[in-house]
Amino acid sequence: MKIFLGADHGGYELKTKIIEYLSQIGEYEIIDMGCKSEESCDYPEFGSGVAREVVAHEGSFGIICCGSGIGISMAANKIKGARAALCNSLELAILGRQHNDANILALGGRTNFIDDPLEIVHIFLHTQPDMSDRHVRRRMQLNKL
Ligand code: RB5
Repeated sequence: MKIFLGADHGGYELKTKIIEYLSQIGEYEIIDMGCKSEESCDYPEFGSGVAREVVAHEGSFGIICCGSGIGISMAANKIKGARAALCNSLELAILGRQHNDANILALGGRTNFIDDPLEIVHIFLHTQPDMSDRHVRRRMQLNKL
């Protein structure tokens, strides 16, 4: 499974930890799309860049981080077909996958988490979408917007 990762300077440290974590598991093809340091940079480039790759590679996931997680998720969700979910808990990660079939996980590197962000990554990657009619219908409506 391909996983595209992106961050601005506010999410750089968390992105680095996630890459280390996923590399240790060894099951994923990890594509780090930057940024490459904590030097100030702009989140729209990285959120949209990851989203374009995720949409282009069916079955892949994106993980994006900025300071709050808000700006980079907004940038990702500008790309048609991207469904980025900003999650600070296991509950939101599970719901984002089950109800929304989120294909991108957004995290705020400078925010307080309810649960460990690495556990959030794990549960996000291991939760399947709920295929009940109502959820499928709503996701189809989302895709048409
Ligand atoms: C960068 O200072 C910060 O504004 C950015 O990481 C993010 O929080 C924006 O939504």
